[in-house]
Amino acid sequence: MAKSIRMDQLTLGVCYYPEHWPESLWEDDFRRMREMNISVVRMAEFAWAIFEPEEGRFDFSVFHRVLDLAHRYGLKVILGTPTAAPPVWLTHKYPEVLNADVKGDLYRHGLRRHTNYTSPKYRELCQTIVRRMVEAYKDHPAVIGWQIDNEFNCHMDVFYAETDHMAFREWLKERYGTLDKLNEAWGAVFWSQTYTAWEQVHLTRHMVNRSPNPHLALDEKRFISAVTISFARLQTDIIRELAPHHWITTNGMFGHLDNHELTDELLDFFSYDSYPQFGSISSGEEEAPLLDRAWSMKLAQVRSISPNFCVMEQQSGPGGWVDGMAMGTPRPGQIRLWSYQSVLHGTDLLVYFRWRTATVGTEIYWHGINDYHNRPNRRVREVAQIGGEFARLGEELIGTAYQAEIAVMQDYDNSWDGELDAWCGPLQRQSVRAWYKRLQYRHIPADMITLRQNTALEELARYKVIVYPHPAIMTDETAALLTRYAEQGGIIIFGARTGFKNIHGHCYMRPFPGPVAGLCGITVEDFTLVKGTVAPAELRWKGSRLAECAKAEGFNEVLQVEASGTEVLAEYATEYYAGKPALTRRRVEKGQAWYYGAAFSEAVVDAIMDELELVSPADRFLEAPEEVELGIRAAGDRRFLFVLNYSAEPAPIRLKAALKDLLSGAVLEKEPVLPTYGVWILELPEAKG
Ligand code: GLA
Repeated sequence: MAKSIRMDQLTLGVCYYPEHWPESLWEDDFRRMREMNISVVRMAEFAWAIFEPEEGRFDFSVFHRVLDLAHRYGLKVILGTPTAAPPVWLTHKYPEVLNADVKGDLYRHGLRRHTNYTSPKYRELCQTIVRRMVEAYKDHPAVIGWQIDNEFNCHMDVFYAETDHMAFREWLKERYGTLDKLNEAWGAVFWSQTYTAWEQVHLTRHMVNRSPNPHLALDEKRFISAVTISFARLQTDIIRELAPHHWITTNGMFGHLDNHELTDELLDFFSYDSYPQFGSISSGEEEAPLLDRAWSMKLAQVRSISPNFCVMEQQSGPGGWVDGMAMGTPRPGQIRLWSYQSVLHGTDLLVYFRWRTATVGTEIYWHGINDYHNRPNRRVREVAQIGGEFARLGEELIGTAYQAEIAVMQDYDNSWDGELDAWCGPLQRQSVRAWYKRLQYRHIPADMITLRQNTALEELARYKVIVYPHPAIMTDETAALLTRYAEQGGIIIFGARTGFKNIHGHCYMRPFPGPVAGLCGITVEDFTLVKGTVAPAELRWKGSRLAECAKAEGFNEVLQVEASGTEVLAEYATEYYAGKPALTRRRVEKGQAWYYGAAFSEAVVDAIMDELELVSPADRFLEAPEEVELGIRAAGDRRFLFVLNYSAEPAPIRLKAALKDLLSGAVLEKEPVLPTYGVWILELPEAKG
C-alpha cells in the first residue's frame, strides 16, 4: 500500500534559511509569512557548519532561537538533516569521505553533495550530527517532521571512491555468493573478463572508451540505489528511535535511486521539488512541446510513490545559478498556476523555495518570493493570494486523489539499463513523451506507474489501459502477471524491443518478444534500427482509422502473426518489408494485448487512442482547448475538476452545465473564459450509479 502524506487541510509552507539573514529580520519574516497564510517552514538542511563548527563541538542555540520564534508565530517546522553539505573541516580532515570520478580523482569541497555514501567515517559523522540534532530539537513544539538529507543523487548519481569499490564487492558477494555466479551474471566469458579473486572486481573505471560491460553497468546502478537507501536508513533509524512522534520524508527524484523502495522501507511519504520552468528551457526542437506542463508527468511519477505528497520546493521565481543554469521570470499568474498543477497531481502540503533570494553564494539568481530589497513585489502578492485561497479550500480537497484509468508504465531496471543501451534507451524516452503528451492534449488523465517485483495484479487491474513501451528486460514472471492483467480485462500495449533481455541484461536465445510472444500472438522475423540511411518506414493503417502520414520511428520490427485471432491493425507501406505487420492486437479472454514494432510517435498514439475510443472523463462537463490541462481529484462522491491554462492567451471554455469554482466561489456557466495562466477548481455533481 503506497504511503501518502496526511494533512488536515491544504497547507502552504516556505523554505527559510535563518542563517543567511541578520537575526533582526526573523521576526518580521515570520509575521509576514503568517499574514500570507504560510503555516509551515522548512529549514536547516545546509546548516551543519552552524551546528558543529568544529569536530565534536556542537551548538544548537541558533536554531533553538529560530524555533522558539517560529512557535510564537504559530509556525510549524520541518527540519532537514544537514548531510548534503558537510563542513569544510570535515572533508579537509577526512578526504576519504569525498566522492571520486570514474578516474578516481576526488571531488573537492566547494559545492555540495561531494561525498560518498560508503565511507565508514562519513557514515559515522553523519550519524553523530543527526543524533545530536534530533536530541536537541525532538521535543520542540514547533517541529513536526524531518526531511533527511537533501535531494539524494542530485548533481551526481555515480560514485567511484575507494570505499564505493569495496562496498560494491560486499554487495555483489551478498547478491551472487560466488565469483562463478558473478562471472556468469556479468557474461565475463566475453573478452576475458573472468574474475578469479574478489579484489579484482571494481565499479566502472577509466577505460579505453566509455563503454563498460553492460551487465556490470546495470548492477552498478542497482548498487548505487542500495547504498543510497542504506545511508538514508542510518538517519531514519535514529529519528525513529528518538522522535517516534515525528514524520520522516525526503525530497527530490534523481538518478539511480529506487524511490519506491526508499519510501516503502523508510519514509512516511515522499516529497518532490517542482521547478516547471525547466520544462520551458529544455524542450528543444519538438513541435508543440508541453513546456512547463511537462512537469505534470514528473508529478505523476511522484504520485506513483505517494498518491498524496508534499512538494518541498515549489518554484516561486526565476531559477538560476551564477554559472550555467538560467531561466526567465515566471509571468504574472504562473506561480499560482504551477502551485495548482502540484495540487491537482496530489500535493497536500506545498512549500515554496524560497522565502527570500539569497544575497550570497551560488544561488544568488535562484529567486525566492521576496527580492533582495525585501519590499512587497508581485510574487509576494501572488503567493498571498494563493495563501488566501488555500485558507478557503481548507479541508475540501483533503482525502481526494488524482483519478486515472490509463497508465504509462516503466520500471527501474529498464530505465537504468536504457541509460547505456543506445538501442532501447532512446525509444523509451521518445515513446513515454509521445504518450504523455497526447494524453495531456486530449485531456485524458494518466498515471505514470512503476512496475516493481512486488507489484500485485490489483494495482494494475485498476487501469483500463497500460502502455509499457519498451521493456527490453522482461522475466517470465512479469509476463505471467501482464497476461493475467489482460485476461481479466486490461489492455496492455508494448512497443519495439520488448522482452529480449533477462534480469542481468543478457539476450535470450528466444524469438522476440521473448516472454510476451505468446501473450501478443506474434514474433519478430526481422528488424532494423532507424538511423542514418535507414529512414522510418511508412505505415498503412488497416480499417477506417487511417493515421495519415504516420511513420514507424526509431526502430522497425517486422512482425509475424503466430496465433490465430491476432489482428494486424497497421502494416509497413515502404521498405523491403512493405506489406508486413507493424501493429497487432490479440484479444486475450476479456482483454487485449497490443504490439507495435517501433517507437511510438504522436500520430501513432493518436491512431491507437482513436481505435480504443479513449475519451476524456471531462467531456461530459465541458469543452476546452488543448492548451488547458484537465484533471480530477476525487474521493467517493466528492469530485473536483481542475482546469489549468498554461497558455499566454485566455482560453474559451464551453460548459455543458453550470459548475461552481471553488477558488472564486463563482458559479460558471455557458461560455466563460479562463484567463491567461488561470485556474479553476470546479465542483462536479455526484457520480451517478
Ligand atoms: C534544489 C535544492 C535547493 C536549491 C534549489 C535551487 O531543489 O534542493 O537547495 O538548490 O534546487 O537550485
